Amino acid sequence: YAESLCAWGGEFVASCHDADTGAFMFICVHSTARGPAAGGLRIKAYDAPVSAMEDGLRLSSAMTLKMAICDAPLGGGKSVIFVDPAVLEAQRPKILARFAALLESLHGTYYGAPDMNTGPDDMDFIYERSRYVFCRTAERGGSGSTTHHTALGTFHAILASAEFALGRRDLTGRSIVVQGVGGVGGALVEMLVRAGARVIVSDVVSARVDDLVSRFGVAAVAPEDAVTTACDILAPCATGGILNARSIPELRCAAIAGAANNQLETPEDDARLRDRGILYAPDFVASAGGVLHGVGFELWKWSEAQVDQAVERLGGILLDVFAAAKADKTGTREAAERLARSKLVR
Ligand code: PHE
Repeated sequence: YAESLCAWGGEFVASCHDADTGAFMFICVHSTARGPAAGGLRIKAYDAPVSAMEDGLRLSSAMTLKMAICDAPLGGGKSVIFVDPAVLEAQRPKILARFAALLESLHGTYYGAPDMNTGPDDMDFIYERSRYVFCRTAERGGSGSTTHHTALGTFHAILASAEFALGRRDLTGRSIVVQGVGGVGGALVEMLVRAGARVIVSDVVSARVDDLVSRFGVAAVAPEDAVTTACDILAPCATGGILNARSIPELRCAAIAGAANNQLETPEDDARLRDRGILYAPDFVASAGGVLHGVGFELWKWSEAQVDQAVERLGGILLDVFAAAKADKTGTREAAERLARSKLVR
């Protein structure tokens, strides 16, 4: 793992192994240039502890950019737990308590938040042992689930992409593939259907697909066909790395705007998309609605309307990014990263 640590360029990783459960945990603090690091806690059945750490490293650097784009007084961090799913099921409190102890030992250099397989209830549990978390439940004084605002931000990213790539914002009759319809993807589908889009869904969990098909009459495609299905806009809302040297030549869409983190497998994939003439809404902007929810409600004490407005502004930020990329003939990810980095210098 030495190589991935060198390439990362972040500040430090705090790690521990819980001998009782076999869980490995990593808190990756990428940058505290804007303030204490913050980012979600992800629990996943990785193939090995090192894969968990590497995922945390990549996700934490994306958080640095996301926080900067949001003008949040926070840096980028992410935490990951590697644990056997059966052990997690049986010993979740024990594992989260161990995580809380690791979190507490950082004394506020990093704040946790919900992410894949964690939610506001987990934040409540952790908060009892360490107060450095966002998005506790409303009953416990937190801002609750980020799902709605993450999806809303992605919806505005899709509107901006339609405006720039297709010439008009109106989604009526536009075909949109939503790859991954968990919490965020599912909420996004509902917004798109309301806006008159022709939605096509896909997920490795077939029950999620069946539910959306019966509720909204949307179409469905097999998970392995999602990315290459012909459509106006592709919305990746599952896991990362799906845009790469293998998939990009096969894409049949005009634009890509989704909530998944780390959609590009390598930095070169940005130019690959540009060269194919496919507009890409950089993921750390398109998925920033969740951060605006947590930070807006909890740090800035915003009203619902203020959070909604800030989330809507993500669409405007994307239009600026698209224009800058066009003018400079760069990829859109590069243009967005340049904007974010300009906000890292104090
Ligand atoms: N999981 C969120 C994300 O990846 C992280 C987050 C939400 C951080 C809310 C702070 C506040 O964007």
